[in-house]
Amino acid sequence: MTAPGAGARLLVTGGAGFIGSCFVRDLLARRDGTRIVVLDKLTYAGNRANLAPVEADPEQAARFTLVQGDIADPAAVAPLVADVDGVVNFAAESHVDRSILDPAAFLRTGVDGVYVLLEAVRRETDRVAAGERPLAPRLLQVSTDEVYGSVETGFSRESDPLAPRSPYAAAKAAGELLAGSYHATYGLDVVITRGSNTYGPYHHPEKLIPLFVTNALDDQPLPLYGDGMQVRDWLHVSDHAGAIDHVLRFGAAGEVYNVPGSHPVPNRDIVAQLLAHLGKPWSLVRHVEDRPGHDRRYAMDGTKLAALGWTNRVAFADGLAATIDWFRANEAWWRTARSGDWGAYYERQYAGRLARAEHGARAEGAGRVAGSARRGTES
Ligand code: NAD
Ligand code: DAU
Repeated sequence: MTAPGAGARLLVTGGAGFIGSCFVRDLLARRDGTRIVVLDKLTYAGNRANLAPVEADPEQAARFTLVQGDIADPAAVAPLVADVDGVVNFAAESHVDRSILDPAAFLRTGVDGVYVLLEAVRRETDRVAAGERPLAPRLLQVSTDEVYGSVETGFSRESDPLAPRSPYAAAKAAGELLAGSYHATYGLDVVITRGSNTYGPYHHPEKLIPLFVTNALDDQPLPLYGDGMQVRDWLHVSDHAGAIDHVLRFGAAGEVYNVPGSHPVPNRDIVAQLLAHLGKPWSLVRHVEDRPGHDRRYAMDGTKLAALGWTNRVAFADGLAATIDWFRANEAWWRTARSGDWGAYYERQYAGRLARAEHGARAEGAGRVAGSARRGTES
């Protein structure tokens, strides 16, 4: 099998989202002849504007096509897969909190959608055996560190058992297990990446860093779940996209590769850093009820990817500062992302939590006043 490299024809599913669009922008900007078709359902998280830099450049635009469609729709998927050397599947519902509110779409895209992609690749693999095409397409399934579940100590290795704890993580685990089974059973050329918490430009404002940056810019409360001591391992989006490209080119068929950020930070510290950069006060933070089943810590061992020759390039302090500045400079982008169902989602996810946090803070304040008044009487 020869993995797709320079000049390849790629199908990038979910390529109008946060990480997928970075992958498309970065690959096409290399001007190495690679041609990309993006298949994207353009859900609330998909945004054609994320690909505007590509569409504005005639040389890149000539090597790029956007098709609006669903990876769970075989009629949309089959003809596109028939025409490419590789499929990179970013398409997913990606927000843990939404998976807790409404899991159905997570299963449709994360399980049924992956099945439809695999069946299409299987058909193309059969066509190779029939002498109808020279090589089968490689499929790279983009997965996540969340499939390991909460890792209290140590570092997850690729051979560790999976223990997903949210409907999002369970759908991602199901998708990658299905992909692995098609390699073992039908000999499909499948590779899997498990990336850690990714940040950077074009990140949807429902996620921690962009939510807190944009709320802080509006002087709105920042809803920090629980004690804020949960640890996430932060990976810049261009490093995540670069690692995926590296595994697509050099990864061994049937293998899984962790993609760690190697920059673990408790949520509280991230919030303190972004408030300091924005010059906004900690008093914007509200400690609200925790996410149900909230994973305490993710941490992955990156030895296998390093041995394949990949190293991250972006230092966290630089990446975070540039990301915050990007959001400051691109208000129209994030205001658009906060349209559609945003108001209803925000109300459902946060209104009760924020109201109860205010109520709790008022009750605590009143208790303190009554306590000191009592102490005053007693003395
Ligand atoms: P995102 O939500 O920003 O983008 C997802 C994209 O998929 C959107 O453009 C959306 O329109 C599209 N999509 C959704 N359902 C679809 C369907 N049925 N058919 C076609 N397109 C569909 O997500 P992201 O943060 O860019 O994540 C991309 C991938 O990386 C996901 O598979 C996610 O699980 C994985 N991942 C994300 C992170 C992270 O921190 N963001 C970390 C590790 C892995
Ligand atoms: O670890 C990889 C995963 O990272 C990806 O697979 C997911 O697609 C991606 O969304 C992300 O999941 P998280 O749940 O870690 O990201 P999120 O930005 O939602 O939350 C990061 C941390 O911040 C988490 O501990 C929950 C906390 N948080 C989040 C939000 C949205 C808050 O405290 N308050 C919030 O309002």
